[in-house]
Amino acid sequence: MIIAVDGPTASGKGTIAKALAQHFGLPHLDTGLLYRAVGYQVFLYDGAPDDPVEARAATTFPNELLGHPELRSEATGGLASRVSVHPGVRKALLERQQAFAGQPGGAVLDGRDIGTVIAPNADVKLFVTASVEARAKRRWQEMRDRGESHTLLEIEDDLRRRDERDRNRAAAPLTVAPDALVLDTTALDKDASIAAAIEAVREAMGKTS
Ligand code: DC
Repeated sequence: MIIAVDGPTASGKGTIAKALAQHFGLPHLDTGLLYRAVGYQVFLYDGAPDDPVEARAATTFPNELLGHPELRSEATGGLASRVSVHPGVRKALLERQQAFAGQPGGAVLDGRDIGTVIAPNADVKLFVTASVEARAKRRWQEMRDRGESHTLLEIEDDLRRRDERDRNRAAAPLTVAPDALVLDTTALDKDASIAAAIEAVREAMGKTS
């Protein structure tokens, strides 16, 4: 069973994808981490994230980079959003994601284009969303726990900028697949979001089997 979980930054999609993977006994890939690694690799080499050639070259980042704590920072998220607009970067990361999705037994992948580009034949597609205010508050708490100090307004502005870039880029923009189930987590806490997602997957699988 392949489960595609897409949605904007801080919508709760990562938490939901991880929980679904655990519940259904499937491996999980956070595809945002791959773009974050590319963005961070560009930064390490003092490169230009908006340059398609330099960004493409950074897709050969070493695997160990995926465990680097800086990948989770707000700054790296911004770099990831910038490098992810380049078609060459997306193409270079495609095979790795599709191989993960295609492994025997299936997988859970979360990102922006899983249901539309990476695994259009996924058995279940969830599009997780929430208001920008709710997402900013969650991200602010997450960053505070990491020891990063940002104001709520800074985070909200940053989320709006990233939403805009992710939704309007030409290559694989963030969009709701026509056959995706939309899960709005604005009014849901973590446990309620997970429970709703598990229920949605069960229902979707019931319908197709
Ligand atoms: O989910 P995240 O915040 O870790 O993702 C960081 C950036 O990576 C996001 O702003 C856009 C990009 N991304 C993408 O373009 N496609 C994906 N499948 C996952 C992430």
